[in-house]
Amino acid sequence: MRLAAAGDLHYTVNSRGAVRRQFADIGARADVLLLCGDLTDHGLPEEAEALAEDLQTLPVPVVAVLGNHDFEGGRVDQVVDTLRGKGVRVLDGESCVVEGVGFVGVKGFGGGFGKRALGPWGENAIKLFVQEAVDEAMKLERALARLRQEPKVVLLHYAPIQDTVEGEAPQIWPFLGSSRLEEPIDRYGAVVAFHGHCHHGSVEGHTRSGTPVYNVAMPLLRATFPGQAPFRLVEIAAEGVKERTAK
Ligand SMILES: [Fe+2]
Ligand SMILES: [Fe+2]
Repeated sequence: MRLAAAGDLHYTVNSRGAVRRQFADIGARADVLLLCGDLTDHGLPEEAEALAEDLQTLPVPVVAVLGNHDFEGGRVDQVVDTLRGKGVRVLDGESCVVEGVGFVGVKGFGGGFGKRALGPWGENAIKLFVQEAVDEAMKLERALARLRQEPKVVLLHYAPIQDTVEGEAPQIWPFLGSSRLEEPIDRYGAVVAFHGHCHHGSVEGHTRSGTPVYNVAMPLLRATFPGQAPFRLVEIAAEGVKERTAK
């Protein structure tokens, strides 16, 4: 199966038509399109409507997770309903199966990486912040545990590893992802994970178990692969995950 993946479309009402240009040849190149959050710019239903109508014109199924921008307008339920109403499979702790491949998605959250990750200690505000990351990791774990389909593919907005954050200013790394998201990916043997959010990070890395992780934030893909369509192509074959995007 050929996966096309992109994140951070940041759609506005003025973006109408952009998806049709950006993914013009997707039917010939991929079997499914994965969108890794920040689907809209300000989390407005009218932005979601513009995106959903454009996505409806694509000849492949679309699987998506939300990003932090999709929460900005305080109308996330309407954003999700609008996208789902037009056939986008929005995952928030759920899974779906497309052509024999299982997809699991959550937004994720921040908190930092490895030994320097923020712990639940001190003020209540810190504990709440950490709890949000723990809850997102638990949602991912439960969805992976329930999904019987193999192979499994993970979609996130926030980064699960530090490798794909590198390139961003170190001062903001703790707000770009959490290694709490890495553990379920490895424990349940997902074959590949995609995320967005890190517009200035690095395009790929690996979990501790060696699972490939792709940062598919569109601004980063445009800067890294100028002149190419702003999405990443990965193939899942019997022998494993193969990169298809020309470097
Ligand atoms: Fe973004
Ligand atoms: Fe984001």
